[in-house]
Amino acid sequence: MADTQSPPPTEEQQKIDGLPLSAVQVIARLYGEEHSFTMKPSEHILYAAIEAGLDAPHSCLSGYCATCRAKLMEGRVRMEINDALTEEEVAQGYILTCQAIPLTERIVVDYDQ
Ligand code: FES
Repeated sequence: MADTQSPPPTEEQQKIDGLPLSAVQVIARLYGEEHSFTMKPSEHILYAAIEAGLDAPHSCLSGYCATCRAKLMEGRVRMEINDALTEEEVAQGYILTCQAIPLTERIVVDYDQ
């Protein structure tokens, strides 16, 4: 579930969450295909996905259009800005990948939902 209220995770918090700080494993479902890549824990998921060669949907890159919306199927993230998703969508697990920083060492997102 996305955590939009808490401050950025400290190194100590990331260690508590078991994050190895060097890499996060991401599985991303996009256009019916599953992709796997690793990213730095300080990156936003969308940027890491694009760097990994995925044609991940995006537009504003600022947290207000929801073009980059995906459903978080596994793991936890922190969204820096959310001016697009309703509380209900967040409760259902939707995140803005352009604003989402991983808090766990494994993240599974589904852009197709
Ligand atoms: S690209 Fe607009 S909210 Fe992420």
